[in-house]
Amino acid sequence: MKKITTSMLMVFLSTALFAQVNPKLQGKLMEQATAIESKMIEWRRNIHQFPELSNREFKTGEKIAAHLKSLGIEVQEKVAFTGVVGILKGGKPGPVIALRADMDALPVTERNSLPFASKEKTTFNGQETGVMHACGHDTHVAMLMATAEILAKNKSELKGTVKFIFQPAEEGAPAGEEGGANLMVKQGVLENPKVDVIFGAHIQSISPLGRITYKPAGLMAASDWFKIKVYGKQAHGSAPWMGVDPIVVSAQIINSLQTVVSRSVNLTQEPAVVTVGRINAGIRENIIPEYAEMGGTIRTLDTKMQDEIHEKMRRIVTNVAESMGATAEIDIQKMTPVTYNDPALTEKMVASLQKAAGDGNVVRIPSVTGAEDFAFYQQKVPGFFFFVGACPPDKDPSKDAVGHHTPDFMIDERGMLVGLKAMLNLTVDYMFMK
Ligand code: NI
Repeated sequence: MKKITTSMLMVFLSTALFAQVNPKLQGKLMEQATAIESKMIEWRRNIHQFPELSNREFKTGEKIAAHLKSLGIEVQEKVAFTGVVGILKGGKPGPVIALRADMDALPVTERNSLPFASKEKTTFNGQETGVMHACGHDTHVAMLMATAEILAKNKSELKGTVKFIFQPAEEGAPAGEEGGANLMVKQGVLENPKVDVIFGAHIQSISPLGRITYKPAGLMAASDWFKIKVYGKQAHGSAPWMGVDPIVVSAQIINSLQTVVSRSVNLTQEPAVVTVGRINAGIRENIIPEYAEMGGTIRTLDTKMQDEIHEKMRRIVTNVAESMGATAEIDIQKMTPVTYNDPALTEKMVASLQKAAGDGNVVRIPSVTGAEDFAFYQQKVPGFFFFVGACPPDKDPSKDAVGHHTPDFMIDERGMLVGLKAMLNLTVDYMFMK
């Protein structure tokens, strides 16, 4: 009997645990990623120059659909208004992997002096405004177009199916409209064929170039909006004892709401935020009004904590009002769920990110209290969402990097290659793990 060497044993063990990607295929994909970089940047610049608002991504959708069709990928158009879904079947059977890019721009007037800066203008909520890809969704579209091109080229070697989801309205549909991930899910984007896993990324102008950041479990917060109505009794401002002052009741409610996070949730588990962002009451200095109204947002990273906070807020609002002789009601609207990275999936996939960005360049971060509608997919199937750093070289991420949603928003396009490689690695690694 031949002696089994340690390295032979290692090979045996790893193939026994899960089939690994053929290193030749992986190497080829990485070479093709580098080769497509300049084309990907061109696509990004074109989309950047002609940005479109949420649920209005008509031209963007057409460009994506034309590209996917040219690759021989099966295409569904006008999903959730302007969304595009591409389905690429590999040569061998395997899992269905969805990759998602959001497509929409924002009502922001670009201040950058780039040759491809946006000059688009529109009216939004009755105001004249520019339109700008001020969150980097243009890079997401270009990265996924490049991913599609490379995977299509290597189709015969792929195990399973890749679904490319180009999603409209991540920033929120216009008033009175549905849209975004939630609508795509409702329209069956995760069915036919049924999606097993979904991956998504967000470029970040405020994170070092080429660094990938992630967190298992709650990465980004659930966002809920609330509205509180306080009913008092109107009186002359000189004679408050004749009425019930809803402004003073509101002040008590606001103060008591501060105790929800500070005094009654276990902050060692996850952070949480309760913000009152708006208050309206009264019309004149010497009139105590009958009614006050306020609104705000709640951010949580854990569904149980979210329920507890809602319950406590309801109790505070109604009971504080009652204790002061007023009545109050609170309406809490769940907007976006927690962007929840399946812990087992996250653990399995970190190595794929390391292959894209380098071992030391994949960093675990604390959770983020912003929200992301990728969460709607993760409610249905295991998903993994992460950030790709693309801070321009003349800025310091810890000091003067320009934030998202601002007129000076800028990303270093070199970050896109890291994002592309990450998407390719995640896809093929997952295929060959099954
Ligand atoms: Ni964004």
